[in-house]
Amino acid sequence: MQSSYPLNQQCAAAVNEQIAMEIEAFYAYKALASFFEHPDRALFNVAKYFRDMAAEEIEHSKKFEDYLTMRGVQPMFRDLKAFNPDKNLTLQQAFELALKFEQTVFASIRKIHDCAEQANDGHLTTFLEDIFYEDQLHAEQELNGYLTAIKRAGTGLGEFLFDKEGLKEK
Ligand SMILES: [Fe+2]
Repeated sequence: MQSSYPLNQQCAAAVNEQIAMEIEAFYAYKALASFFEHPDRALFNVAKYFRDMAAEEIEHSKKFEDYLTMRGVQPMFRDLKAFNPDKNLTLQQAFELALKFEQTVFASIRKIHDCAEQANDGHLTTFLEDIFYEDQLHAEQELNGYLTAIKRAGTGLGEFLFDKEGLKEK
């Protein structure tokens, strides 16, 4: 495909890496979902929350794939890094990890944005701003709120109550 508006190679490589990062986030959220579904934890709404997060990450990876395809670049895939939660991971630690994942992903999106600005690629900067900036800021806001609620409720019965009442419908 000959594009009249080719994507800068460095930016294309950064988007390729982003695809893998989004799928790794999917993989990690899936692991957290299974973890909380286990009978030793039995926090089923938390498990559902992480399953829904996983589904969102797969959608994100697809949006980046589609973007490369639209710009005439063949997406390239690399091996994925697995995440397996420690068996003693607490609810608070799980949400702290989720917040860290989101912050890392957002930092990486902003790096692609820097690349796009340097390459004077207005379409890529707009794509990132319109589709991802709001989503990422919203995810951080949500996770920070949940962390406040989890800390306030405390462990034991507090975790049970957070699971029952603490999560908004996604
Ligand atoms: Fe994402």
